[in-house]
This record gives sequence, structure tokens and C-alpha cells, in this order.
Amino acid sequence: MISRRRFLGTSAAVGTAAGMAQSGPPRPVGPNSRITIGMIAVGARAHELLEAIKRNTGTEIVAVCDAYKGRLDRAVQRTGGRAKIVADYREILADKSIDVVTVASPDHWHKTHVMEALKAGKDVYCEKPLTYTADEGAEILEAVKQTGKLVQVGSQGISSATQQQAREMIQSGKLGKVTMIRASYNRNTASGAWIYPIPPDASPATVNWDMFLGPAPKRALDLARFFRWRCYKDYSGGIATDLFVHLCTTIHFLMDAKMPSSVVAMGQLYRWKESRDVPDTINAILEYPEGFVVNLSSSFNNQLAAEGAFQILGAEGSLTLGGGGFTFHPETAVEDNRWIVESWSRALEDAYYKDPKVQREEIPSSRPPQVTATTQTYRERGLEATIVHFQKFFESVRTRKATVEDALIGHRAAACAHMINRAAESRKLVSWDSAKENIKA
Ligand SMILES: NC(=O)c1ccc[n+]([C@@H]2O[C@H](COP(=O)([O-])OP(=O)(O)OC[C@H]3O[C@@H](n4cnc5c(N)ncnc54)[C@H](O)[C@@H]3O)[C@@H](O)[C@H]2O)c1
Repeated sequence: MISRRRFLGTSAAVGTAAGMAQSGPPRPVGPNSRITIGMIAVGARAHELLEAIKRNTGTEIVAVCDAYKGRLDRAVQRTGGRAKIVADYREILADKSIDVVTVASPDHWHKTHVMEALKAGKDVYCEKPLTYTADEGAEILEAVKQTGKLVQVGSQGISSATQQQAREMIQSGKLGKVTMIRASYNRNTASGAWIYPIPPDASPATVNWDMFLGPAPKRALDLARFFRWRCYKDYSGGIATDLFVHLCTTIHFLMDAKMPSSVVAMGQLYRWKESRDVPDTINAILEYPEGFVVNLSSSFNNQLAAEGAFQILGAEGSLTLGGGGFTFHPETAVEDNRWIVESWSRALEDAYYKDPKVQREEIPSSRPPQVTATTQTYRERGLEATIVHFQKFFESVRTRKATVEDALIGHRAAACAHMINRAAESRKLVSWDSAKENIKA
């Protein structure tokens, strides 16, 4: 087991990680060779990633790094004792035998971890949101270009069979012209509002506070901030970067859309006031140049609408998506001018309804017989999306083909969240500069 000194990152080895590197460039990963993985941060999500990685044959987690001892120990257990604990992420980067790095640290660390991993010659799987600010996106894209290494971002929903098939249906035109999408994330529990239990053994002996803070403003050890970092602007963009980023990734995927041209939003802190400095309620409107508008909303006070529920609304049908499947609802709208025509003279009303076109359009029983689609529901079965997302990532690592959720896709989804936060904070419309791939100044 790792010593406390080493765990706290005070060991002399930390500062000289590069000195421990094996010489020569990173080894290429052949189509059949084993992919070795180092995990930067093994918190709650990373334990799910770890289990998903284990379901992919030909891969091995060889090193883990984290700022809380309990999670390191558990992660090593999950690898059957095979992974080694390193005191500092730079030890993973310096190890030339490691092909792939996963980044599942708090958001304010993502850019540093991703950029340094790319520059060390690693392919990177980074949890969403790729960035903590929109500006960081350009830096990461440049690093991808310079290094030729792969990035896959972890909004795994797009690898689910549900979203793949929903996309096919939308792209086939079955919904007709889609002009509006509503999507939401609603919760009504403390855990849903990120007030997670703090492990009873958390203390300066087991928590590396400086390692957690990194580029964030310095302050005294605060276990609530360490374990509930999503509640604080210093480390997270709150609802927008934690939840809406999933919704935007999915919407871009389903609709083949790039970025909203403009965003307006409002954010409020109504209920969980003692625990955070980010809103617990957000409503946002995103206008897309592709010809549709998106309505995103999130409440931490009521969960009537399911988590991550989508309504994609077209002139010929709607698609509702969420809860492990989707449903197609054909539009059955019929013209009905009765209340207008009944205010005309009797003779004009009678004449109106004698018109065969009116009969066809306004009196369903007068239509020629036809077969129409009814509501169709599709339920997902099989491998969980994160396992599939990793399958695809490892295939890219072996074949060097582009990843299914590359840095540009991740940057754009995260930038939507940053636009929403900026709009909510400024109470002004925020626009996107597509030439600069950044928020308009
Ligand atoms: N794709 C999904 O469905 C999904 C779900 C949950 C979380 N996430 C994302 O995963 C990331 C992690 O979230 P989480 O819920 O696991 O948070 P967490 O707090 O459980 O885990 C974060 C871990 O990072 C460690 N850490 C902090 N600074 C570090 C550093 N400098 N080096 C190494 N480790 C460090 C902490 O000790 C902690 O264990 C976030 O970006 C979050 O948005 C994604």
C-alpha cells in the first residue's frame, strides 16, 4: 500500500517524474496488442469507467492516481491488485509503457490533464465536460493537432443503441421538419443535487487538498468542496457543465448540428442555498443555425419529468427519448375551422363543408381508407453505453481512425454549457463565433 508521504505527493519522485521515463517514443499499439491504461483520478465515475474497461478484452489498467486514499485502494482492489498507485499524475505520463490515459478528475483539472497527456504521447479518454472554460477548447484542439493523438470525450449516451437508432430515424426524415427540441434533467433529492456523503475516514491524512485544488484559487481544506465540487464555481460549471453537456452532445448527434448561434438563459438558486454557489434551477434557449431551437431546463426541486428526457418535435412526428429507450409518436393533427366557420352565415357554412378539399382535410371520416403509423416504442437491451463507448475508443486506438466523440465534439458541447452560464450570469444574449470556435467577445 502507498505511504502517506508518497500519497500526499511530497515524495521527491513527484517533481522529477520525467526523470523516471523509459527512454524512446511511446510504443505503437498494434491491432492485436494489449492496450495499457493509466487512470488520472479514480473517483466515483472512474470506478464505473474501470468496470467498463474491464469488460473490454485486450486492455489492462496498470496505474491509478487520485487525491483521496480510499478511492485509490478500492480501485486497486477492482483491478485484482494489478494496478500500481502513483502519487502524482505525471508519473503516469512519464511511463512510456502506458498507451492510454483516462481523465476523470474534477472539471477544473481536465484541460491540464488532457493537454499534458497528449503531449506525453498518450491517447486520452476524458470525461465530460472536456473544458472548464470555452477558451480551453481551442488549446486542446491545437494540442490534438500538434500531437496527432486521439481524444474521446465521455458523454457515452451517443454510443447507446437508443441514440444510434433515434438518430437514424430523425435523419431518415420520419419526423418531418424538426424545429423544436425540449430536454430536461430534474431531480428532487440531496444526492441528485450533488450533496454526496463524505467518507468518514476523510481527513488531511487521506485527502490531498493541494492536489485537488491545482489551478483553482487557494483556500483552506474544505471536505465539502473536495467531495461535492460540482456545487462550486471554482471547480465546476454546475448544472450546465454537469448535466446540460450530456443533453447538448446528444442533440448535436441526433440532429447533425454543430453549435447554437445564440443562447439566452436564466439561473436561480432557490432551494439548496447552504451548499453551493451555483444555481439549482436553469432554463436556457439555444438557437441553432440548422433551423431549430432547443429548450433546456433543470430543476433540483421536482422530478416530474424523467432524468435526461428529450422531446424532438417534428411536423410529421415526435420522438421522446429517455429511460432506456425512445418512442415515436406520429403527428395526427387535422385541420378544424369549425369555430370560425360557424360564425359565418348558414349558407356560407354549408357551402364551406360541401367543398371536397375541406371534406378531405377537415372531416377524417370522409377520407379514403389508409393505413397510418401508430405510436412505436423501442427499448434498449444489451451492453451498457459506457462499455460500448470504450469499445469504440479502443478500436480507434488500435486503428487510429477518428474517435466517435472527438475533442471538437466535446469542446462544442462543453461550450454550449459555458454559453448558458455566461448568459445566465450576465442576463444577456450570448453568441457563438464559428470562425474562432469560441464565444463571441
Ligand atoms: N459520463 C458520465 O455519465 C459521468 C458521470 C459522472 C461524472 N462524470 C464526470 O467525471 C468526472 C469526475 O466526476 P466524479 O463524479 O467521479 O467526481 P469525484 O469527486 O467522485 O471524483 C473526482 C476524483 O478526482 C480526484 N482528484 C482531484 N484532483 C485530482 C488530481 N489533481 N489528480 C488526480 N486525482 C484528482 C479526487 O480525489 C476524486 O476522487 C467529472 O468531470 C464529471 O463530470 C461523468
